[in-house]
Amino acid sequence: MSSETAARIVQRSIVGKGIAHDSAARHVAGEAAYIDDMPELPGTLHGALVLSPVAHGRLKGVDASEALAMEGVAGFWSAGDVPGHNEVGPIHTGEPLFAETILEHEGQVIGIVAARDFETAYRAAKRVRLDIEKLDPVLDIEEAHRRKNYVVPLQEVVDGDAATAIDAAPHVFSGTLRMGGQDHFYLETHIAYAIPGENGEMLVHSSTQHPTEVQHHVAGILGIHANAVECQVRRMGGGFGGKESQPTIIAGAAALVAVKTGRPCKLRLKRRDDMAATGKRHDFVVHWRVGTDATGRIHGLEAEYLARAGNVADLTGPVITRALTHTDNAYHIAHARFAGHACKTNTVSNTAFRGFGGPQGIITIEAVIDTIARKLKLDPNRVRGVNYYGSDTGDMTPYGQKVEDNRLVEVTEAVLASSEWQRRRAEIDRHNSADPVIRRGLAMMPVKFGISFNLTSLNQAGALVHVYLDGSIFLNHGGTEMGQGLFVKVAQVVAEVFQVDLDMVRISSTATGKVPNTSATAASTGSDLNGMAAYKAATAIKARMTRVAAEHFGVGEELILFREGRVHAGNESISFGELAKLAWAKRVQLSEAGHYATPKIHWDGKAMKGRPFFYFSYGAAVAEVAVDTLTGETRCLRADILQDVGSPLNPAIDLGQIEGAFVQGMGWVTCEELWWDGAGKLRTVGPSTYKIPGSRDVPPAFNVRILDNLPNREETVYRSKAIGEPPLMLGISVWLAIRDAIASIDGDVPDLDAPATPEAVLRAVGIAKSRKQGALL
Ligand code: MTE
Ligand code: HPA
Ligand code: MOS
Repeated sequence: MSSETAARIVQRSIVGKGIAHDSAARHVAGEAAYIDDMPELPGTLHGALVLSPVAHGRLKGVDASEALAMEGVAGFWSAGDVPGHNEVGPIHTGEPLFAETILEHEGQVIGIVAARDFETAYRAAKRVRLDIEKLDPVLDIEEAHRRKNYVVPLQEVVDGDAATAIDAAPHVFSGTLRMGGQDHFYLETHIAYAIPGENGEMLVHSSTQHPTEVQHHVAGILGIHANAVECQVRRMGGGFGGKESQPTIIAGAAALVAVKTGRPCKLRLKRRDDMAATGKRHDFVVHWRVGTDATGRIHGLEAEYLARAGNVADLTGPVITRALTHTDNAYHIAHARFAGHACKTNTVSNTAFRGFGGPQGIITIEAVIDTIARKLKLDPNRVRGVNYYGSDTGDMTPYGQKVEDNRLVEVTEAVLASSEWQRRRAEIDRHNSADPVIRRGLAMMPVKFGISFNLTSLNQAGALVHVYLDGSIFLNHGGTEMGQGLFVKVAQVVAEVFQVDLDMVRISSTATGKVPNTSATAASTGSDLNGMAAYKAATAIKARMTRVAAEHFGVGEELILFREGRVHAGNESISFGELAKLAWAKRVQLSEAGHYATPKIHWDGKAMKGRPFFYFSYGAAVAEVAVDTLTGETRCLRADILQDVGSPLNPAIDLGQIEGAFVQGMGWVTCEELWWDGAGKLRTVGPSTYKIPGSRDVPPAFNVRILDNLPNREETVYRSKAIGEPPLMLGISVWLAIRDAIASIDGDVPDLDAPATPEAVLRAVGIAKSRKQGALL
């Protein structure tokens, strides 16, 4: 039997199966332990943060005496107490853990109180007296832009000469779009539990997507080496990007208390403090101008983005980069100028959120396409079609990456067919001509999303695999589990390599002491990166075990076959565990650390050109909505989604990701609205004032399909594709469908920003109605 035959016989048995999330049963039974569920060590202190009550001010004095006099209070610490650096910026310095002299947003962390229980700590934190001289806040993005208050320099993607191309085009349209931010609303708010060890060591359990960053920042804050700090996380109760950079604030404050008191300290934020003190998706204002021909083909596009950074940069730079590299979405734009300003405002520092700037770029071009179609009285899908990347248009993105794996036409045609677009379009048009109150709308949109961190160096991962002598396997890697199913996917990869039962692979907590120098689990790359690192580690061990088996059976290595927990040579076989014992007896290493670095990618951040993405992921959605023109209420009645995931590692997990991402994206563009009052205080700090989509907002007809099982063209782990973020942007189809419903009133471009809350919809409906009346007069 040749090795080729062997490879054919070994069908994939575990990878590609729709296997339940490893913790699914424990999640629903309440048995999956989060940090707050961990048994507390004796002497554990509980922290509560002291937060700035003003959006802008000078901190002239802090008086904690009243708080310190309360029974059970262990202490209060602030900037002056930090033994190392008072810094938590993920990229830049000057982003303090504790505010120093200037307060820059309401909810900014000033200090931490610790007490024997949480309630005492929380009450004491409220009794810390702050002497503040109020300063005028800058709350508006455009105001910050007028003042040229930026946190990072302007970024620009320029290709060709957009201004000239637009001016020369037969049709020119322009507009301004405002899109809101979004709170992550993970069920588990930020939390850390810091446990001091002997000789200056610190163990930090942190709800973080980025244990390495927590480790390094805690070390920096404490003024100790990184090797004295270990960060561990078994799972998060959701991250959604909100735990990519800012867990350092929580972990840093908890670790400081632990060092100062020698006692373990747990810091868990109440929802209102979590929402006030930690960042969200960046809200943007974008001004755009487009030139087209009569078919809607774009000749040139200019987009100038103003992003709300908040008080410091955090990840705003790369978020804007991703917005600029996703403004093309599915469309070839020969002449482009996309610019992004990172506006500094006296609001909480915004951060990563699923899509990471991609949603802001994609909603912009989709609004542009929608406007072109309505102004030229063309079918929006035709306008999309004439602009798609492809042989008729071109395959070069404005930032210099060729689109080599284009599946746009495929996903579009498939979703139009499966959603019965034509029949429903006609039916909805009929309905709208007969019903003046409830208008219905229908929209299709494609998504092309670039996979890789747009900073090349972050695209690496490590894994650690041990085979024990009973044949059980221990797996660790740098990726973190936040509900997305990464752990089961990587375990499937390892089980597949060894051809053992998935139960034989032990999934373990992410820990900086086991796999070092990792990247955040972010940019949807978790399974691509960690799956490949684990694959490499497992494959290396398997190669050594194969040699041992060949020797044992007295055959060539090519005749050794791992299958169903056994190792075969012709008709003979031994169990995987027996082979592990044999290998050990022959003093063969049964442990391996794998490392993977994504190939082919490069990025010149100055020129804003390169090949930032290893590959693209494609999807398309059709959404139908009903709009009540008397109340402004909207409802998504049906959504059909087709998403390309290459050859899925786990289609059941992937379907869940698509559903969740779509609904979260729909929430961003419909009901989720952050609202600051005139003094810069966030007033939407809990579920009563901040509306996330609930189970009843899920479209009653929700047809989610994985496109097919076509392997990724690029050599990803088992030719799968990333899934975590791309389908979020498909939720924008609901917003487009609301626009379609409103446009049915007067046929013109709806004056509708995002989110399309009932107020915003009612306003747009009113404008459409009066335009229609005006036209009739
Ligand atoms: N799914 C769940 N259930 N919870 C989450 O917090 N985060 C999303 C996505 N899916 C998230 C999620 C985000 S922002 C990213 S980047 C990816 O998961 C990260 O995980 P992955 O790279 O393993 O897909
Ligand atoms: N996604 C998430 N986090 C990041 C990225 C990205 O593209 N780039 C840098 N940090
Ligand atoms: Mo996801 S926003 O890249 O954590």
